[in-house]
Amino acid sequence: MIITIDGPAAAGKGTLASNLSKKYGYAYFDTGMVYRAVGLEMHLLGKDLSDKEAALSIAQNLTFEHMHELAQNPDFRSALGGKNASIVSAYPEVRAALLKMQQDFALHPVFADGTPAKGVIYDGRDTGTVVCPHADVKFFITASAEVRAERRYKEFLQKGISTNYDEVLADVKARDERDSNRATAPMKPAVDAIIFDTSSLSIQDVTEKACEVIDEKQKN
Ligand code: C5P
Repeated sequence: MIITIDGPAAAGKGTLASNLSKKYGYAYFDTGMVYRAVGLEMHLLGKDLSDKEAALSIAQNLTFEHMHELAQNPDFRSALGGKNASIVSAYPEVRAALLKMQQDFALHPVFADGTPAKGVIYDGRDTGTVVCPHADVKFFITASAEVRAERRYKEFLQKGISTNYDEVLADVKARDERDSNRATAPMKPAVDAIIFDTSSLSIQDVTEKACEVIDEKQKN
């Protein structure tokens, strides 16, 4: 079983993915990691983000293991990490170089400790449209920019990262704009995706609704 969850930053994709992964025993691939890894490596090597060739070379040489090593760096999940990821992810060549690694995960899905999983859950922006167009179940999770910025702002405060709400909102809007309007694999719901708006629905409600869809699919 392959499940995809796409949508903008801070819509609740990660929480839904992790709830579903626990309930069904499926491995989880957060595909934003591949772009965050390339963006962070560019930063660590002192490369300008406009240097497409450098981004491509990093993408071509990225391994799953190195991506997880880079994820230990505090900048990996920072606002800067998200912004850099969104810039390098707009290069079509970079996206093409990172596609196979994402698709291959579904062939032999494993948990972090190497245990094989019975299925896979992807989260990202194009997992239902490009990475796994033949996924069994596709969700698109969204919420207003203000609600998402509020969530991100609180997350940063909890992690002790100093920031202000207006800055986070501006960042969320800028990322939405870049991710939705790029020429290759823009963020959009797959035609067969089920759309949830988490502005007014709690993540528990969304999880319950998603489970109903998956249970129904499994029966068939
Ligand atoms: O989901 P996350 O915030 O970690 O993603 C970081 C950035 O990576 C996104 O803003 C987007 O530009 C890019 N991304 C993408 N396609 C994906 C996942 C993430 O373009 N499937």
